[in-house]
Amino acid sequence: MIRIMDKKDINMDKITSLCKRRGFIFQSSEIYGGINGFWDYGPLGAELKKNLKEFWWRRNVHERDDMVGMDGSIIMNRAVWKASGHEETFSDPMVDCRVCKARHRDDQLPEKDGAKYCPGCGSRDLTEPRAFNLMFKSHAGPIDSEDNLVYLRPETAQAMFVQFRNVLDTSRKKLPFGIAQIGKAFRNEINPRNYTFRSREFEQMEIEYFCRAEDGMRLTDEWLETRLRFYEDIGIPRERIHIVEIPDESRAFYSKKTYDLEYEFPFGVSELEGIAYRTDYDLSRHIEHSGKPLEYFDETTREKFVPHVVEPSVGVDRTVLALICEAYDEEEVGEEGKKEVRTVLRFHPRMAPVKCAIFPLMKNNEQIVALARKIQVTLRPHMMTAYDEAGAIGRRYRRQDEIGTPFCVTVDFDSIGESGPEKKDTVTLRHRDSMQQERIHVSELRARLLDAIL
Ligand code: GAP
Repeated sequence: MIRIMDKKDINMDKITSLCKRRGFIFQSSEIYGGINGFWDYGPLGAELKKNLKEFWWRRNVHERDDMVGMDGSIIMNRAVWKASGHEETFSDPMVDCRVCKARHRDDQLPEKDGAKYCPGCGSRDLTEPRAFNLMFKSHAGPIDSEDNLVYLRPETAQAMFVQFRNVLDTSRKKLPFGIAQIGKAFRNEINPRNYTFRSREFEQMEIEYFCRAEDGMRLTDEWLETRLRFYEDIGIPRERIHIVEIPDESRAFYSKKTYDLEYEFPFGVSELEGIAYRTDYDLSRHIEHSGKPLEYFDETTREKFVPHVVEPSVGVDRTVLALICEAYDEEEVGEEGKKEVRTVLRFHPRMAPVKCAIFPLMKNNEQIVALARKIQVTLRPHMMTAYDEAGAIGRRYRRQDEIGTPFCVTVDFDSIGESGPEKKDTVTLRHRDSMQQERIHVSELRARLLDAIL
């Protein structure tokens, strides 16, 4: 990837301002003052997110024989969360400031001279930390009673454990095999922060890869490599991912190995994904609590055992944010005396929200407009396109650069045969990163673009 701007000069103000200005991300309920920890994706953000999820699904489900997908419900029987341990332990330590009444996460409080203080008013008069469960509560049905209490799922993973038997029986997979799922998760974070990075509603892309105990450690390392390759394939080079192996004392007691994959966000290096070898903890807990047989029977060896699991789990929203931060660039263009700053999102073409913009050179020339529209009609079933006829071509290019469109096609007088038959039905294809233009026949366009975006 070409990068002109130094990474350290990219700050969150530039990112949030571009996202708002061009319709990637908006504050949820903005006209009513917003709501902390919730975000809406605008037209371009929705495309970017969809491209990411579709590519993750393609790589992890369609292109593998050992994986299947599922789509579980957000609300499940409360017993699931008792068995998983979430009801008892899925909490953060919370403190209240006795002066300004603000609530904070104890482990995120700033410290001075060895004492923690309130980041809002500076007071050191804080309550003792107490556990705050992060699961959102609701009631299923018309009666608000304890019997009807339900939770919005804080992770998608549990559906894949509790449906293990059904998926195994219906897919007839043999170990090792995995289940993949993409879906919303909800956590009542005490302090949502860093834009979409820590939200109260977010999406996860999770895999539960079931295996024999003796393969768990090796498969964890294989998944690490697979996931690093995935990041490269969406335009985040592996050098930009920090791999942190979680030491014994910090890992969950049931995990034998865990990697955190962190990205260098402008606000600091922070977690993008976790890859955890969770042993047989989850299935064993559900066997114990439900009393149902979730064991695997190996027909060759006639053994029955509880499979172990490796879990690569990543947030969609965090990856979208990383994609935008990674793609953001500014460069000076133009001749001496007429220099201007070009803001460009250098998305990998397969992630770019709009793949190709089509410009008729003159909006009032019927033949040019007809050909431009015809090109758009042929590309539309295969990719997201844009049509722009307003303003000078240079300005139209800048608008597309700013949203990361990798290709622009201009239909001009040559395209309609005004300079002779040899250039008829050719257009200029302009490349976002190099700004180079080439002349290409309309009939070659679709294949050229599909090659680049698949
Ligand atoms: N099933 C395992 C699990 O949920 P996690 O580390 O709590 O593990 C996995 O979450 C991923 O989900 C994180 O690496 C992150 O990308 C994303 N995630 C977690 N909490 C989030 C939040 N509040 N806002 C946005 N993304 C979040």
